[in-house]
Amino acid sequence: MKKRVLVATGGGDCPGLNAVIRGIVKRASHERDWEILGSYQAFNGVLREPMELMVLDEHKVSGIHVKGGTIIGTTNKGGPFAWPIKEKDGTWSSADRSDEMLRRLQYQNIEAVINIGGDGSQAISQKLFEKGLNIIGVPKTIDNDLAGTDFTFGFQTAVEIATDAVDKLVTTAESHNRIFILEVMGRDAGWIALHSSVAGGAEVCLIPEIPYKVESVIERIHERIINDRGVLIIVIAEGAMPVGGEAAAEESDEIGYAHKHLGGAASRLKKELKDAGCESDIRVTILGHLQRGGIPNAYDRVLATQFGVKAFEMVLEGNFGQMVAYKHPNIVGLPIKKVISSYNRIGPDDQLVKTARGIGINLGD
Ligand code: F6P
Repeated sequence: MKKRVLVATGGGDCPGLNAVIRGIVKRASHERDWEILGSYQAFNGVLREPMELMVLDEHKVSGIHVKGGTIIGTTNKGGPFAWPIKEKDGTWSSADRSDEMLRRLQYQNIEAVINIGGDGSQAISQKLFEKGLNIIGVPKTIDNDLAGTDFTFGFQTAVEIATDAVDKLVTTAESHNRIFILEVMGRDAGWIALHSSVAGGAEVCLIPEIPYKVESVIERIHERIINDRGVLIIVIAEGAMPVGGEAAAEESDEIGYAHKHLGGAASRLKKELKDAGCESDIRVTILGHLQRGGIPNAYDRVLATQFGVKAFEMVLEGNFGQMVAYKHPNIVGLPIKKVISSYNRIGPDDQLVKTARGIGINLGD
């Protein structure tokens, strides 16, 4: 009987997930006696009745590296430690089904699991590892906020999409002498905003790590727009906040969703600027999930493929409880426990912050 590895993709989707899956399956095909299974929608496929598992062979993964999304589905709800349960009175609670999940994996002769996901998914990996599961983590997120790895795959594609948006807004802003505020994703980290601002040439970049002063932005507007002539592109991260304020967010009404829905930072800034007396035309563009969908760029396909191959090799070596990470120029394994103990946010002295300031980008401070 073949040895089985289960692959799961969890959390928000991200360009490059399919390239990781393909890398795992192709590398495994060089070994005799190994079979790769996918669990539909993270671990929910293992926990559903009947189970939703699929065999991932070379035929199934052929050509998928160029496709966005994930062929095995994903979710940011549920999971083995917080399975949503509907009570008789219609309210929802959650149950820990992790022991049951481990039994189900044993019953399916699963020797090891490769869990592809962001910080929430890797926290689940660590808890399962502590319960005895042979598990390897693979870091994914467009936000690039996972510690321990130089980059997560998906980030470079998101930056390209955001930069393309800046480029497009510049031409329409120039035609109308307008201010554009572009809201980009990134959760509590400003990596997408900062990279696309430098690449696209935005005048103002507001990130969660540096709370902004509206007066500072107004000052830049006055420098750039004189007698109604001039343009200004502001890139704002969804998690950005004014000094003394909080990120614009609302509670989720989705059952089992662990996060707040971030969004509204750009509209709030527009109001703040208008309230502060800005008379220029201001338009808001929210890029949203366009940053996550579609074809991964070449960089992300390469990184994701490297992660997939390494993850399977770590299974062969028995390096469980570790996450694959990119430490230039190598792909290495790091303890998941260490990786999830911190968060990759932009530091005040990061090189790219210095570069941004060096070319005169206003960071709102
Ligand atoms: O973590 C990735 C991300 O796209 C964030 O940038 C964003 O805040 C969040 O996920 C949105 O998640 P969803 O709409 O899938 O709930």
